[in-house]
Amino acid sequence: MPQGTGRIDWSPEGNHTLAVSVLRRDTYPLITGRGSLSRLPDLVQQISECDSLVAITDDNVAPILLSRVTELLTTFNGRVQTIVIPAGERSKSWAVADQLLTGLCTRNVKRRTLLLALGGGVVCDVVGFVASVFMRGIPYINVPTSLMAQLDAAIGGKTGIDYDGAKNLVGAFHHPAGVLVDPELLVTLPNREISSGLAEAVKVGILNPQLFARLENLTLGPKLDLDSMAAVVEEAIVCKLVLLREDPFEQSLRRFLNLGHTFAHAIEAATGFSAYRHGEAVAIGIAIATTISRDRELCSTKTMNRILACLETCGLSVTLPTSLVAETWERVTVIRRVRNGKLNEVLPVSIGECVIVDEMSYEEYAIAVRTLERRAARPLCREVEGVGP
Ligand SMILES: NC(=O)c1ccc[n+]([C@@H]2O[C@H](COP(=O)([O-])OP(=O)(O)OC[C@H]3O[C@@H](n4cnc5c(N)ncnc54)[C@H](O)[C@@H]3O)[C@@H](O)[C@H]2O)c1
Ligand SMILES: [Zn+2]
Repeated sequence: MPQGTGRIDWSPEGNHTLAVSVLRRDTYPLITGRGSLSRLPDLVQQISECDSLVAITDDNVAPILLSRVTELLTTFNGRVQTIVIPAGERSKSWAVADQLLTGLCTRNVKRRTLLLALGGGVVCDVVGFVASVFMRGIPYINVPTSLMAQLDAAIGGKTGIDYDGAKNLVGAFHHPAGVLVDPELLVTLPNREISSGLAEAVKVGILNPQLFARLENLTLGPKLDLDSMAAVVEEAIVCKLVLLREDPFEQSLRRFLNLGHTFAHAIEAATGFSAYRHGEAVAIGIAIATTISRDRELCSTKTMNRILACLETCGLSVTLPTSLVAETWERVTVIRRVRNGKLNEVLPVSIGECVIVDEMSYEEYAIAVRTLERRAARPLCREVEGVGP
């Protein structure tokens, strides 16, 4: 519950100084573990002030999970309604946020309605954003169904949409009223999405040697190993929570979670938010940042090679196609302008340590991109060299 204090120092001349402070503490339950979806009614029950619920999902997840979720909610003492939005990053848009706001109005939603985001990072981000602005903020819970959302997007209260060609330009900090993470929901997730989610796990793993070692030793087969994925989800959540506990509004420590994201957002914007999955762009971003760090002698070649190999073990490419080099840098300069001229780029120093640097030049970016390209070409050359008499 927010607590407020205010002080007014009246001055006889009429120039009054007003001091107002609002203290707010958000606490919410996070239920996790294989099979935990069955505990959804308990979670909803805990948010006792709500008398109706709107479950929002996308049109990929709806046929897989929506009826299961609404069946679980038959014990909920209030009306349950649903809204389905199109799947994909393009739904993190003003148009879809507007469609959701209209949907809430036509469903007669009031302040005591709970929104339930059932889906990947896109659904969590756009539902959280809508919850933050509707009636100046209504509660929502996240039931993340993609790996990316389970270990990252559903937790931390960052909500938003892409706007004017820029990633997450419009948004708000609005913490969920609860989160339920069931790794069993990942069984239907395509392999490409698993790898995309793992990019964010590598990002936190670079800050946590134990998680990094787990990821280095991961074996990705055609069938998902739910036990090892559940362990990755749990460890990554704990790592993120440690940073959030110290810095809920991204003033300091939490900024390390932006590792690889300047380049990732630039790549996504340069390709119209459609060619790359978010995690695929993050993987290339981490690779470029790491290579720049090695070139600045901030990290060793051994650390760089470990990070690049770990990304590849997770099924991620680390090279930026030549056709995107110039456009991506264009977008980086736009991001720099938005950040008041400072890039605040996170660079790995070792597994367990990163630093934040203000600036980066086009030259060092271009050199890093070329280094990664040459590295990718090397095994191919060896194969070609090996052919013949
Ligand atoms: N708010 C944050 O802190 C935060 C953190 C990380 C990422 N993000 C955002 O999250 C978004 C990416 O999230 P994402 O990768 O989950 O994308 P997404 O929401 O588009 O989901 C990926 C795809 O998987 C499908 N899907 C989801 N769950 C499924 C399931 N169980 N079975 C089958 N298909 C399923 C979706 O329909 C979609 O097609 C980006 O916009 C990114 O910026 C936000
Ligand atoms: Zn991300």
